[in-house]
Amino acid sequence: MANKVVIGAQWGDEGKAKITDLLAQDADLIIRYQGGCNAGHTVVAHGKTFKFHLIPSGILYKGKTCLIGNGTVVLPEYFEQEIEGLKKENIDLSGLKVSPLATITMPWHTEVDGYSEDNAKKGKIGTTKKGIGPTYTDKMARIALKIEDLYSKEALEEKLDVILPLKNKQLKEVYGLKTYSKEEVLALCEKYAKIFEPYVCFEWQEMLHKFKKEGKKILFEGAQGVMLDVDYGTYPFVTSSNPVGGGACTGSGYGPKMIDEIIGVAKAYVTRVGEGPFVTELTDNIGDTIREVGHEFGVTTGRPRRCGWFDAVTMRYACLVGGLTSVALTKIDVFDSFDEIKVCTAYKDKRNGKIYNSYPTDVYIHKYLEPIYETHKGWGVNISGIRKYEELPLNARKYLERLEELLDTPISIVSVGPDREQTIFKS
Ligand code: IMP
Repeated sequence: MANKVVIGAQWGDEGKAKITDLLAQDADLIIRYQGGCNAGHTVVAHGKTFKFHLIPSGILYKGKTCLIGNGTVVLPEYFEQEIEGLKKENIDLSGLKVSPLATITMPWHTEVDGYSEDNAKKGKIGTTKKGIGPTYTDKMARIALKIEDLYSKEALEEKLDVILPLKNKQLKEVYGLKTYSKEEVLALCEKYAKIFEPYVCFEWQEMLHKFKKEGKKILFEGAQGVMLDVDYGTYPFVTSSNPVGGGACTGSGYGPKMIDEIIGVAKAYVTRVGEGPFVTELTDNIGDTIREVGHEFGVTTGRPRRCGWFDAVTMRYACLVGGLTSVALTKIDVFDSFDEIKVCTAYKDKRNGKIYNSYPTDVYIHKYLEPIYETHKGWGVNISGIRKYEELPLNARKYLERLEELLDTPISIVSVGPDREQTIFKS
């Protein structure tokens, strides 16, 4: 197996966990490299459904090393909960490692996230309220705590002497929120140190060198999706990290030459949670049908997802900036009973008739855009039992081949159901 990156190619929730889980079988090292517990990855294995937020789903296989990389932000209480859940299921956690360079989400980060969302009038992002944005903000402002700080009293105290006066002023004066004493934070950090202790990997450099030198197979597990990327997504309606393929390097400790393939996971339709533009959104009964048949409700927040037709304009952009070498198309079986399936091939500006064949990055004009669709005939049969590409109904193959043409990117995997086995590898 080549070294692969799996990323979301839309607005998250594309079914990455299933694809990662499948590819993890052949990997030696699985690295989750960005985001935090805002992600919700569902894997169906051993007849059970597992929901992951931060821990790489590769942990379900024995003998794999699973690293939570330096590019992630970690909410200690949530991490602990996830660990406890897996222990209850008797999952072997001996391969789980956490980078000492990962950033800690402190209570003030979740409090500020919640405050900002609850009090936003116009600028609401619809975040998961897991403190992601405020943690990354402090990381970039150089006033965040890294996991390694928990194990050096000197570093921790020195940092807190800088961080707390600033943070408390901000918490009190900007947000009217509770402030924190140094003693209180030191006590919290002591608790956090115990939570991470069995997993923190201080010898991560030696470990990465070893895997590289021995030619071991590496799988980089992305979270969210290209259209939520802080640089390329529908800014400001984005997350605060880099879900594009390039994020795998900055968030893992490996350079670009270590990557052979970048697989972008996309649904045969589009969903989005939270605020932000969505040109092909369906607010009618077709959108409701997609939501019901596709079970489109958030893993992390339970929110109903906004649903719409496949958007080839946005997706072509995602293929480019995400660096995709191929696409894994999921949930195509949701269309089994559809007579017609639409695909957006261009946008039209309602104000002046201007046609957009390429994705306009100025998202403030998206409200004026209407999708131009082409219509495909459905296939009218249940395809969830099919395992070979040639056995798919002709209309399904025509649909897939048209998507490849529109995206100028091959489809390497087609998923026809949630189980590992319900997968077609297309050469
Ligand atoms: P945050 O990442 O919690 O700051 O949320 C920012 C935006 O990203 C919001 O629109 C969230 O709904 C969205 N988001 C964050 N994580 C996920 C995910 O795993 N799937 C889908 N959307 C997500």
